[in-house]
Amino acid sequence: MSEKFYVTTPIYYVNDRPHIGHAYTTVLGDVLARSHRSFSEPTFFLTGTDEHGQKVQQAAEKRGVDPLTHCDETVVRFQELWQKLGITNDYFIRTTQENHKKIVAKIMQDLYDRDEIYKADYTGWYCVGCERFFTEKDLVDGKCPDCGRDVNAITESNYFFRMSKYQQWLIDYIQTHPDFILPAFRANETLGFLKKPLADLCISRPKSRLSWGIELPFDPDYVCYVWFDALINYISGVGYGSDDEKFNAWWPASCHLIGKDILTTHSVYWPTMLKAIGLPMPKTIFAHGWWLTGNSKMSKSLGNVVNPMDMIERAGVDAFRYFLLAEMSPGNDANFSEDAFIARYNSDLANDLGNLLSRVSKLTIRATGGEIPAPGELNADDKELADAVVSAIEIMEASLNTYKLDQGINAALNAVRAGNRYLEKCAPWTLAKNGDTARLNTVLHNAADALCRVAVLLAPVMPGKMAELLAVLGADKANISGIADLKNLSSVAGFTMQETAPLFPRIIVEEPAAEKAPAPKAEKKAKAEKTPAKTDAVPENVVVTIDEFFKTQLKTAKVLSAEKVEGADKLLKLSIEVGSETRQLVAGVAQFYTPAEIVGKTIVIVANLKPAKIRGIESQGMLLAAKNGDTLKLVTIDGDMPSGISIG
Ligand code: ME8
Ligand code: MG
Repeated sequence: MSEKFYVTTPIYYVNDRPHIGHAYTTVLGDVLARSHRSFSEPTFFLTGTDEHGQKVQQAAEKRGVDPLTHCDETVVRFQELWQKLGITNDYFIRTTQENHKKIVAKIMQDLYDRDEIYKADYTGWYCVGCERFFTEKDLVDGKCPDCGRDVNAITESNYFFRMSKYQQWLIDYIQTHPDFILPAFRANETLGFLKKPLADLCISRPKSRLSWGIELPFDPDYVCYVWFDALINYISGVGYGSDDEKFNAWWPASCHLIGKDILTTHSVYWPTMLKAIGLPMPKTIFAHGWWLTGNSKMSKSLGNVVNPMDMIERAGVDAFRYFLLAEMSPGNDANFSEDAFIARYNSDLANDLGNLLSRVSKLTIRATGGEIPAPGELNADDKELADAVVSAIEIMEASLNTYKLDQGINAALNAVRAGNRYLEKCAPWTLAKNGDTARLNTVLHNAADALCRVAVLLAPVMPGKMAELLAVLGADKANISGIADLKNLSSVAGFTMQETAPLFPRIIVEEPAAEKAPAPKAEKKAKAEKTPAKTDAVPENVVVTIDEFFKTQLKTAKVLSAEKVEGADKLLKLSIEVGSETRQLVAGVAQFYTPAEIVGKTIVIVANLKPAKIRGIESQGMLLAAKNGDTLKLVTIDGDMPSGISIG
């Protein structure tokens, strides 16, 4: 880590509705800020809104309000979403703030005085949507090269920033600073752009055409070009020109996070502006890819945006943050779909992480009443789990420097999966039954220890849920606030484990009505006393995908006890062991198996079947059996296998 960390997001156009693209950059910034703070590194995280320009003026005119009123009303959408998403920005800058406007004017005056800005006639092509001028050769088929919309020819007197004179300097700078533009292929893209002669940058707009902007201090007939104004937020937001001490503490920025849509403005305009102003360059400009829906960029104009509020509503803030960061490898584009969201939530969070926690907590409470025991001697299984955790910590730490947080997250989840495999292999439920307390203590300790460390790794991504998880482990009192503290945490022995409800309840997908299998209601089933294993209602030719199949969780279960249900001669009430759990299950097998015959068998159950009442008795799952006329045989396991093992 370095001695300070200053991270920024783009300042978003205020009249857009924030969608998951905006949420992504902001959550990425937040996770980086939280992580760096956890190393006790002085950290500043800046975000905000871009409030000048033609689009805002037009939107305000359309509503019949003045532009600032329009901004005041729309900025709230961003501020509320960031609050909801737990964004810990240190400041929220709006380019309509007096201080920012003053600094922009000051910089323009200074550059004008030093002949870095001059006046000239200009003919160009203007895209209203993108608020950018293009030269004839920039156009693609006569349209805007960025968005493909129509452009208008405009000739007028304007002010220009002498950007062209910095072209060679910029090429050299990029070539000698491999961390300046990341990922590296974006640096190459910029260098490719710089192969053509760089034009000077038109930084003014005549008020006759656009009045909503910062007035040029040396010519009241003009306002400042919105990009020139906007980029300056990165320095005005940390005190440039108003608070030298603050500014010197934070500038140069460690990282400007941006999407690839605004690479050129950040990798060409901004560095040359800084050079002319006389300021050092930011350490890194990191351009991530786009969130797509159905292979097109998610954008308001395409009408394919996903509203983050809907996703938060559905699965909670932390799961949404997790999905954004885990799903996108930030150099590349990522596709958003609700199916992908639910699939990842259910597999990574509900299954892998949630299950590990509930198993560890139940087993420990059953074994010791809650106190995490001290470990005994370690064997190869223990070492394998510890290695997976160490590797996750290393990868997460490295990913903070490369900005590829998906790699750190993935490594953390691999450690979680190693934890689940470890439990299945070491079978603490069997150790408990056999009275092997020494080994049981070691296994319980190591599983809890792994979980604790992974929770700390994932805390910047899921601050709320990981705090809950650490509280369940009793680790909340141990003052572990980040990776740095993990190095001093020798053991979780002695922490007091709490009982827990599922941390990430599974999202059950309601099938569209037409596709629903004609499933009889629970009561009807009970009346008919049908065997739940009956499958002949399903037509032979229905094909399911592997994902559909795996929505059904099949598990091994051991029958601990069985008894007849009074007044129902076909039903047996079973008590079964499923890993660390004991469940009750009602099955229509009484005419084929006596209680004595069925006890002790390892059977196969549908573990995630919605519980149902049969004859007023709750049945938590369903067993599998084959029925042929008057015979019925249970599906059992060929050989020795503990209970609670997933089948698939
Ligand atoms: O460009 N996928 O603001 P903006 C990923 N005001 N990220 C996306 C995205 C998507 N589909 N859509 C938007 C502006 N973003 C200027 C910036 S900075 C001095 C001025 C994110 O509201 C991504 O970070 O159009 C992208 O660069 C930014 O939002 C653009 O936001
Ligand atoms: Mg945009």
